[in-house]
Amino acid sequence: MSVNAPLSRASANAELSFLHRFEPGRDPAAAPLLLLHGTGGDENDLIQLGRMIAPDAPLLSPRGKVMEGGMPRFFRRLREGVFDEADVRLRAAELADFVREAREAYGLAAPVAVGFSNGANIAAALLLTRPGVLAGAVLLRAMVPLAEPPKADLAGTPVLLLSGGMDPIVPEENAARLAGQLRNAGARLDHRTLSVGHGLSQADLTLARDWLATVPTSAA
Ligand code: MLT
Repeated sequence: MSVNAPLSRASANAELSFLHRFEPGRDPAAAPLLLLHGTGGDENDLIQLGRMIAPDAPLLSPRGKVMEGGMPRFFRRLREGVFDEADVRLRAAELADFVREAREAYGLAAPVAVGFSNGANIAAALLLTRPGVLAGAVLLRAMVPLAEPPKADLAGTPVLLLSGGMDPIVPEENAARLAGQLRNAGARLDHRTLSVGHGLSQADLTLARDWLATVPTSAA
């Protein structure tokens, strides 16, 4: 699907708290995806990726509200890799509210987040600060969003963390620390490190697609 496809009627819904794009899925039983773009992306960025990895699922794609030099993000950072953690918490709470609104507006089950880079980091923050909002998550090149996250109960929540072994932005130690936080909270984590950098590869798409096919829809 082209990123130039017409926006759905719902995408202009001013009553929801994030500017977003919503694409209904052909399979109402498929887990909806919450698509979370990287720095400088927008609500159109991951639609095509979402369709590739979950051809029949509803897609919900908000635009990050924080602007950095004209580039949308999901939370403020002080510099590359150094986050404003108070803002991370605030923005994760805002995003949780949006997910609740969107589920009600579109009649959706709890979504599985698919986030890239900054979008993966806010998805990790959402998991750790608001367990129960997401039915699961695919975290593409995520790093630790909160040095000391609250004690969360993610028992059984499936999470796929795909890291890049040659990622210049996310050190391996940092990705491993995030993996530890998620495991300690009880998430059913599958962490793979691919021989790639920060950018996405075909292997990411294949692994994400195959993993998503194993995630049951939650009506939670
Ligand atoms: C980014 O460029 O988005 C960073 O790698 C991750 C972040 O700032 O959240």
